[in-house]
Amino acid sequence: MNFFKKNRRSLMLISALIVVVLVIVILKPSDHGAPHDAYFAALNDELKKNGSGRPVILVDMDRLDKNLTLLKESIQPPIAYRLVVKSLPSTHMVKYIMQKTGTKKLMVFHQPDLNLLAAQAFHDVDILLGKPMPINAVREFYATVPRETGFDPGRQVQWLIDTPQRMKQYLAFAAEKNITLRCNIEIDVGLHRGGATNMDDLDEMLKIVSDSGDRLKFSGYMGYEPHVASALPLLKKKEAAVRDAYAEMMARYREFYDFGKKHYPGFFSNELTFNSGGSHTYRLFKGEGPVNDVAVGSGLVKPSDFDTLLLTDHLPALMVAAPVLKRLDGTTVPFLEKLSWIFPLWNPNQQVTYFIYGGGWRANFHSPKGLEGNAFFGLSTNQSVANGSRKTALAVDDYIFLRPTQSEAILREFGDIVLVRGGKIVDRWSSFPQ
Ligand SMILES: Cc1ncc(COP(=O)(O)O)c(C=O)c1O
Repeated sequence: MNFFKKNRRSLMLISALIVVVLVIVILKPSDHGAPHDAYFAALNDELKKNGSGRPVILVDMDRLDKNLTLLKESIQPPIAYRLVVKSLPSTHMVKYIMQKTGTKKLMVFHQPDLNLLAAQAFHDVDILLGKPMPINAVREFYATVPRETGFDPGRQVQWLIDTPQRMKQYLAFAAEKNITLRCNIEIDVGLHRGGATNMDDLDEMLKIVSDSGDRLKFSGYMGYEPHVASALPLLKKKEAAVRDAYAEMMARYREFYDFGKKHYPGFFSNELTFNSGGSHTYRLFKGEGPVNDVAVGSGLVKPSDFDTLLLTDHLPALMVAAPVLKRLDGTTVPFLEKLSWIFPLWNPNQQVTYFIYGGGWRANFHSPKGLEGNAFFGLSTNQSVANGSRKTALAVDDYIFLRPTQSEAILREFGDIVLVRGGKIVDRWSSFPQ
């Protein structure tokens, strides 16, 4: 008893010390740094030799080709492939993928993109709008569409219509201009992002088309369903959850299809587009349902939001590369200069500070491994900061590689896209304007 009383203070001190050591061992960051691997080291050398000395967005064409092979293996007749233009917004890129896949079907989401394609002699493609355009955007399109390229909107464009109200607006516009508008009806097959949710709305839309004379023409349905890939595996495997969600979605699609076919049989005798799918789900479509048209874009370059179950074997083909402008030892923060020695001591990933050309992209540090941002410096789109351990081993003029989370906005940001094959720069393709 006496012994414990006497040694109580020392026991408490020892316990406190153990807790502190444990906290340090558990919380202290380990060194995540590693230099570029062979792939990125080769790209770094190439960019230093032949690059523009500014941040660029790269597409690895060998990897894109591999992803295109996977796509072609999976999308087979009776399903047709439709390229999602917004996800690869470059005329050259669109033409390249059309040629590689043999498709003449595009999905477009932005009125100026539609005008751009119309102006660039895409006179033999079929364009399905991926979202409903406000009637003023349709008006703007018709006011500015070039006539001399042979682009024929009445034959080549399928406008997406989500409500009876919008269908009426399109009818009034078609009557005013004495033109025919092809209308594809958006149906809600579980995503709840809009479109017909019930047969009454669908019926009303089909009736407006039916009563419109030649002003409106029914061209099919579009039911987008990326939620299928996010099905929660409650009491079952993820694969089973996704398969069940797909079956449920397809059953809903079929209800809309059967209703239309039963009540408007005349519409269903023509060649129609029953679109669905996207990168997250395209591999589920095997042609067993009414869907005959599947749209895919992003998965062909696989930004990081597409690191999903069904795209496991797709290769990331898109990278931002930005040159290092300055390399400083340690991490020195304004007003905390005297304390700055603590940062690398606590976190080895702050042994070196790099300032890089540009920043603020929707992209995460990818190579060399172990780079991180710095909360003290915050976000800069002009000259951003990256901290890393000495193992990251970069010098001034070396490149840092970042992997975009998505492709659509970032591909427009840089103005052009640098193409790489076998680790060498082979071309530059301009992207669509922002
Ligand atoms: C209607 C529609 N279809 C298909 C897609 C698939 O595009 P991606 O393959 O680029 O994800 C999208 C994506 O936003 C979409 O909105």
